[in-house]
Amino acid sequence: MSKLCIQGDTRLVGDVKISGAKNAAVAILPATILVEGITIIENLPNINDVAILNEAIVSMGAVTKFLDLHTLEIDATTIYKYSATEPCISKMRASYYLLGALLGRFKKAEVAMPGGCDFGGRPIDQHIKGFRALGANIEIEDNIIKINADRLIGTRIYLDMVSVGATINIMLAAVLAEGTTTIENAAKEPHIVDVANFLNKMGAKIIGAGTDVIRIKGVSKLHGGHYNIVPDQIEAGTFMLIAAATKGDICVRNIIPEHMDSLTSKLREIGVTLIEGDDYIRVIWKQKLTATQIITLPYPGFPTDLQPQMLVSLLQAQGVSTIVESIFDNRFQYVDELRKMGANITIDGTKASIEGVDTLYGANLVATDLRAGAAMIIAGLVAKGTTTIDNVRYIDRGYEDIEKKLTALGAQIFRID
Ligand code: UD1
Repeated sequence: MSKLCIQGDTRLVGDVKISGAKNAAVAILPATILVEGITIIENLPNINDVAILNEAIVSMGAVTKFLDLHTLEIDATTIYKYSATEPCISKMRASYYLLGALLGRFKKAEVAMPGGCDFGGRPIDQHIKGFRALGANIEIEDNIIKINADRLIGTRIYLDMVSVGATINIMLAAVLAEGTTTIENAAKEPHIVDVANFLNKMGAKIIGAGTDVIRIKGVSKLHGGHYNIVPDQIEAGTFMLIAAATKGDICVRNIIPEHMDSLTSKLREIGVTLIEGDDYIRVIWKQKLTATQIITLPYPGFPTDLQPQMLVSLLQAQGVSTIVESIFDNRFQYVDELRKMGANITIDGTKASIEGVDTLYGANLVATDLRAGAAMIIAGLVAKGTTTIDNVRYIDRGYEDIEKKLTALGAQIFRID
């Protein structure tokens, strides 16, 4: 059990290099199950979710080897087991990708119900609808999802809501299916394009990823190869918001600036200065931030995974801002923790009203989930005095070397084990 301890009221300045995308990595690792050959995945973030998925694949019979901290060689040819039911699997959201990948490879899968951050109900009915449409039978027994199919046959699948997980999972199940699968109303997040690029590099035939109609022409086999994971849009956004909130000047490097468009527009609107290059954005605070209205939406809208970090930044703005959370029905649970610091935030269902305050004060906080934990770090960096953050394990699931990166920018942050 470790805690983060932050001595706040510090302006953060300098350069930070963004790691590979967590949400791409946690889909691409399961996707390697479909490959009968050797894949080498580069730019993997060194985070706990990656370690857990690596162990899961090894326990199924794959042979994996870290060539360095961020490069994993995987030979999935030897996988013989089609189940993943260990308790650590049920704690993470992305374990649902094992379903699509195992179904695609073996026409069978048994995986523990996915857990992950608690934002209210997080059904997986659209994943199941997609698998059934491809010809699979599905039962849920003792919290284990059991799937089998005689054949998987491509078809048209319309998603009733835009779902990142369902879009990727259906792609995984369909790449080795017979015929063509069309996913309509697909999600368009950068990591969906990244997973499709990975699969195509290994021999899949997917077109349209990044639009709302994806077509997957089934192939009989995927072959091995190298793949480099896209930079993490949410880690990049977190550091951009750290610059804005701490009145700082941070150059966020190794990113794809176009992926950040919804955030850069909002930051400009509230008075932050931004300088964009080919693979970096420099974020400079020059004046008091102004209040704004935000609604979280599927990509290219404002990401729900930056909602808590944006909310903390808006505590530094003049006036009252509002954020409507339209993706998840209960993603403001962390606000109670921020109130301990003197934040004035009113929640009405899925809408938060955030009043700018002159000062936040250090407090003892408990991270309620991954991105809320990141938001609490921002609050601690801004606040006067000392802030401690418990439940750091949530933050470690998705941020690589967070203390090291922040310390290099001038933060006073350390871990107490
Ligand atoms: C993924 C991301 C998460 C991010 C979220 C939204 C991973 C591992 N997690 O989560 O970080 O916050 O996208 O960008 O990549 N829904 C259903 N039925 C389904 C599927 C989804 O009702 O079968 C609903 C969800 O409850 C939610 C909305 O659709 O209200 C979007 O969910 P989805 O995009 O699927 O999110 P996740 O894949 O769980």
